[in-house]
Amino acid sequence: MTQDELKQAVAEAAVNYILPLLEDDTIVGVGTGSTANLFIDELAKHKSKFDGTVASSDASAQRLKDHGIPVYDLNGVDQIRVYVDGADESNHHLHLIKGGGAALTREKIVVACSDEFVCIADESKLVKVLGDFPLPVEVIPMARSHVARQLVKLGGDPVYREGVVTDNGNHILDVYNLEILDPIKLETQINAIVGVVTNGLFAARPADVLLLGTQEGVKTIK
Ligand code: 5RP
Repeated sequence: MTQDELKQAVAEAAVNYILPLLEDDTIVGVGTGSTANLFIDELAKHKSKFDGTVASSDASAQRLKDHGIPVYDLNGVDQIRVYVDGADESNHHLHLIKGGGAALTREKIVVACSDEFVCIADESKLVKVLGDFPLPVEVIPMARSHVARQLVKLGGDPVYREGVVTDNGNHILDVYNLEILDPIKLETQINAIVGVVTNGLFAARPADVLLLGTQEGVKTIK
């Protein structure tokens, strides 16, 4: 199977996973990226079985609306039953690196409001140690150089993602050459730098379930 076929398989598996959770008033949190897009397309086949969604990016919100699925402002929603999203890397503890699509801040906010976080990814994303994928950090634009200097002190090599402005109007630094042995500690350290909005480590609040697309089928890792 190709990587795209593996992504399609996990998108279908994610819908099968959440189907028993769906009721008339259920709100589903929806992530961002190519795997999340496939999930949205599969979810659309069941749009009569739940109330609506909260999206982690303008792009996902538009795709949901194009399918006729309601998208709610998070401030008007009490409870998100389940959040489904992809990842750039996952370790075996389901600590993640996210933000390759620059949606990390809204993703982390929606995760924080969700009862359960289901991560969907193809097998190339599962690693022993996080950090081969450069860690995205969303920064307030005027703080970009300051934050970059602090990230160097933490051992990384930050690179400005030129031309990218997040849905929140901020910039992204991609931090190379980090061997992330203690993801929770590093997530906390980076968040403490003045000018950082969010970093792409999802470790303090990891995924609850990883549906991993492999050549042997979709594996469920908890
Ligand atoms: C977007 C993300 C995505 O989940 C991550 O980049 C994975 O994307 P894809 O499913 O396209 O591989 O964090 O900010």
